[in-house]
Amino acid sequence: MDAPLVKTEVRGRVALLTLNRPKALNALSNDVIGELAAAMRVFDADENIGAMVLTGSEKAFAAGADIGAMQGWSYMDVYKQDYLGGDWESLKRIRKPIIAAVAGYALGGGCELAMQCDFIIAAENARFGQPEIKLGVIPGYGGTQRLPRAVSKAKAMDMVLTARMMDAQEAERAGLVSRVVPAERLLDEALEAAAIIASMSLPSVIMAKECVNMAYEGSLNDTVMFERRNFHALFSTEDQKEGMAAFVEKRKPEFKHK
Ligand code: CAA
Repeated sequence: MDAPLVKTEVRGRVALLTLNRPKALNALSNDVIGELAAAMRVFDADENIGAMVLTGSEKAFAAGADIGAMQGWSYMDVYKQDYLGGDWESLKRIRKPIIAAVAGYALGGGCELAMQCDFIIAAENARFGQPEIKLGVIPGYGGTQRLPRAVSKAKAMDMVLTARMMDAQEAERAGLVSRVVPAERLLDEALEAAAIIASMSLPSVIMAKECVNMAYEGSLNDTVMFERRNFHALFSTEDQKEGMAAFVEKRKPEFKHK
């Protein structure tokens, strides 16, 4: 039997979900997100679970959406499957709190997945970035909307336009993460925080989460859709083909439209 793409484990009232594609730095394929969404839905409905922790490996929480899978897609391919909708978007409907425990790279869709969680606890080696521009596209899973809300317009523009990564200390200063801990403390810190949440009254936990999200998201539904459609549109460009091909062939891209 193939190893699961997402490993799950229950610790008391906390569910621990671990992305399990270490060789590809936990690149997020539709299958990974499908498994993740299915597991989260089960825990969301399980009255013995009060909170969840989502983590990756020591080297990568997730290095982004799966570039190899996207490389050959056309505009019609991404539009017709509503890529980054479906299971991806369903994660925001999970009602119980989810803490992202991030070590190593959280890039592109990986950074967006961490931001989609309710808060982020980072290991000292964590690095956050939205490097899609280097592939000839833009973030497509909420990055251009959630990042400025989390870290300010200035830092979001800097990261989205230059592809610069932020280390854990800068991410904490900027408000992207709630705590930074030594790598060996990461999982315990996140599990302990989740256990505290899971010890609270579930209705108030769920309402608290909904209310904070109301303050934070505003018209996010519209803006995320706007972003996704633009992300889709970029699959009609030569530069997307070049950017993704260059990544896969391990060379520098030569963009036509500079
Ligand atoms: N998709 C597919 N495969 C990926 C991947 C990704 N996003 N990121 C890494 N991998 C794979 C590599 O291809 C490599 O596979 P092979 O061993 O088979 O060659 C393996 O993971 C290890 O990666 P590297 O050899 O590149 O490791 P490194 O330590 O030299 O570099 C890195 C690490 C800087 C994170 C580099 O892997 C990298 O830049 N990854 C891509 C990051 C990126 O561009 N993310 C955005 C993706 S687009 C997106 O996410 C769209 C969206 O908004 C949803």
